Amino acid sequence: MSTSLSDIARQIEHEHEALKNQMDMLQETVKTELTEDNFKDWQVDTILKLRDFKGTLEKHFEMEEIGGFNEELIRLKPQNKKKIEELETEHREIILKIEHIISELKHLVTFEKEKIQNIVSSVLGVLETLHLHEAAERELVNTTYFHDIGSAD
Ligand SMILES: [Fe+2]
Ligand SMILES: [Fe+2]
Repeated sequence: MSTSLSDIARQIEHEHEALKNQMDMLQETVKTELTEDNFKDWQVDTILKLRDFKGTLEKHFEMEEIGGFNEELIRLKPQNKKKIEELETEHREIILKIEHIISELKHLVTFEKEKIQNIVSSVLGVLETLHLHEAAERELVNTTYFHDIGSAD
């Protein structure tokens, strides 16, 4: 028999959907074709979007860590503990990485192609890490709630 999805697990899944939209938007923004003319607007827009994104992520990570989601995953399946500790460490790393990117972006004073390219790669790298992070969480949800040992279906 499988355990049905709890309210907290359902809420986290909704948040993952919303995050995905924000990630797509951010990806589109950083991939904009840049010239000397649109650089400044792009810089401001990207910094603001990264700040919003960081705020959303911080709340999402808190929800997973203190809102009962991770706790429940461990209660239902104690073997999840190690993976969840890794994911919580990754939360810290992702936030630090975004802060670092924002600070690098702020320090750009002129249109410097090479530096901009490095920043864009860093943003895409964070998005990729987060995609994998959320996929690992989905996998935990699937194996914890829907595939209990002894399940006949
Ligand atoms: Fe997470
Ligand atoms: Fe998550």
